[in-house]
Amino acid sequence: MQNADMTSQSLAHIHTEPPHRHYGAVLFYSEFDDPKAWGDALKANLPGLDFRVYPDVGDPDDIRHVLAWKAYPGFFAPFRNLVQVVNLGAGVDALVGRTDLPDVPISRLSDPGMMALMKSYVLFSVIRYARDIPAFEQAQRRREWHYIHPRPLHQIKVGVLGLGHLGTAAASGLAAAGFDVRGWDHAPKTIADVRCYGADERDAFLREVEILVNMMPLTPATTGLIDADLLGSLPRGAKFVNASRGAVVDEPALVEALRSGQIGGATLDVFCVEPLPDEHPFWQMENVLITPHLASITVPEAAARDVAESIRRVSAGGEPLHRIDPQRGY
Ligand code: GLV
Repeated sequence: MQNADMTSQSLAHIHTEPPHRHYGAVLFYSEFDDPKAWGDALKANLPGLDFRVYPDVGDPDDIRHVLAWKAYPGFFAPFRNLVQVVNLGAGVDALVGRTDLPDVPISRLSDPGMMALMKSYVLFSVIRYARDIPAFEQAQRRREWHYIHPRPLHQIKVGVLGLGHLGTAAASGLAAAGFDVRGWDHAPKTIADVRCYGADERDAFLREVEILVNMMPLTPATTGLIDADLLGSLPRGAKFVNASRGAVVDEPALVEALRSGQIGGATLDVFCVEPLPDEHPFWQMENVLITPHLASITVPEAAARDVAESIRRVSAGGEPLHRIDPQRGY
C-alpha cells in the first residue's frame, strides 16, 4: 500500500518536472565510485539527465554540476558555468582550501546507507576489543585455549570523538548495543543514552575512555589533534579506532603510544598517506588492524535521491542539501 502510494507520487513528480536541459550537464569524477551505478541512480530520479563521466567532458561550458571524489588540483578550472559541487562522500577535506574552485555551494553526501555502513564498522571494531578477539586470534596461532572472562558491555566505556552525522550514528549504535558511551564535540550535543562532553571538557571525557573512536572531520583545526598529549590522557592500554581521516592523528605519536603500551591496540581505516606506504611501521605491528579506507562508502541508490534534489534546488536558485561551510571545513 505504502509502496503503491510512493510510486504514484514519484511518477506524478516526474511528469511535472521541467525538461532536463534546464539543469545543464552533470560531470562525474571518481576513481573509486562506479559511474554507471551513479548515472543509473541519478537518471532514475531525473530522467534524461545529461550525465557525463570524466574524461568524456564534452564542452566544459555545458558542465553545471560536478560530483567529485578527490579531484586532482586544477580539475575545476575549465568549468566556467559551474553552479555546485557535490562531494561523493562525507569528508570534504579534498574540496576545501583549493584555488581552482569558484565560489559555488559545496555539499556532501549524508545518506542512510553510508550511516549504516559506518555504524557497522565502528560496532565491529569496538566489539572486537570489548570481546577480546585479538587475544583469541593470537592464542589460536599458539594452539592455546586462552579463557578471558567476558565483561558486561555496560561496564565498557567507549568514547566517540566528534559528534557530527556519522559520529552521532556511531555513538547511538554503540549505546544501542549496550556500551557505556560518551561523546565529545566542540558544539553542545544531546544524544539519547550518550553522555556528551563539550569543548572545554576534553580531559574529563578522555580520562575514563577504554576504547576511543575518532569521528572528527579533517580541518586545519583538527590536523594532528590526536597527539601524544591526547593519547596520554587516556587510561593506559586504551584501544583506538580511526574511521575519519588519517591526518587527524599524529601518526608517529600513535606508533610510539602503541609501542609503549599506552595504547593497547588500534583499528585504523585511514592514514596520512594512502595507500599506506610499504615501509610504514603500522604494517608490522601485532596490535594494529589495518583496513584500506572503506569503513563507509556511499550507496548510490540511497544517495542519488538527495543529489537529484540538490540539482533541482540549485538549478531553481535554491540551496543544495547537506551544504558544507568551506571556512569551517565540514
Ligand atoms: C569517506 O572517507 C568519506 O568521507 O565519505
